[in-house]
Amino acid sequence: MDNRPIGVFDSGLGGLTAVKELMRQLPEESIVYFGDTGRVPYGTRSNEIVTKYVFQDIRFLLNFDIKLIIIACGTASSIALEAVQKEFAIPIIGVVHSAAAQAAKISTNKKIGIIGTQGTINSNSYVRKINEIDPSIKTFSKACPLFVPLVENGYLDNEVARLVAKEYLEPLKQESVDTIIMGCTHYPLLRKTIADIMGQQVSLVDPGAETARYVKEFLQEKDMLAEPGNKPEYRYFVSDSVESFSRLGSLFLEKEIIQSVEKIDIEKY
Ligand code: DGL
Repeated sequence: MDNRPIGVFDSGLGGLTAVKELMRQLPEESIVYFGDTGRVPYGTRSNEIVTKYVFQDIRFLLNFDIKLIIIACGTASSIALEAVQKEFAIPIIGVVHSAAAQAAKISTNKKIGIIGTQGTINSNSYVRKINEIDPSIKTFSKACPLFVPLVENGYLDNEVARLVAKEYLEPLKQESVDTIIMGCTHYPLLRKTIADIMGQQVSLVDPGAETARYVKEFLQEKDMLAEPGNKPEYRYFVSDSVESFSRLGSLFLEKEIIQSVEKIDIEKY
């Protein structure tokens, strides 16, 4: 048993889709969350910059006595997971593995669409993982660079979001994919818009939710779960405006962020 918190980070609000699932699936676990809201988006930046940011994010989280780190960001997981796993002794889990495994498992026509940031799509991370699992699966990738700014501004289910989503998703629809990996942790907030365009017969895989499931198994297997009855503590840190994080973050978590959110200078780490 291990009551220490889990550290989670993302470039901004997106990682809260994973936190929401952690809270649901592991209600006794404490969480320290860092959203790098001052430097979002990661998805349009070079691999060097994303890797530098990810090292800083992890060094910040290591100030807390945490037991595990989740990179709740598709871009950071795609680009920097291996480098940080080599560097740090603490277990570090990204979102690509679990989402790819789930998509490969549920696709029946073996045609999977992958949507993500430019960085994630360029890295081919999901495609490689899926092909490792089942080389007969066909993948169709599409970068959706406007989705993150839409979500960070709360444009989730309106005419603008629908128009942008239609433009991005139409080519995947033409390929008759039966499963879509929402390969960026911001995208589950657009689930309804994406589902309306793709149709209800297409399954949407949420990387945060799949990773939360995997983390539960991992902690169980290593006997690292918090003690039954442990009262969890949640702490939130950001690198930009505290107010907008609390407001939009509550949307992501589907519950009020009542704890104080602290602003930190991530460049110090
Ligand atoms: N939520 C992130 C991801 O999964 C980051 C998006 C971004 O910062 O561009 O890729």
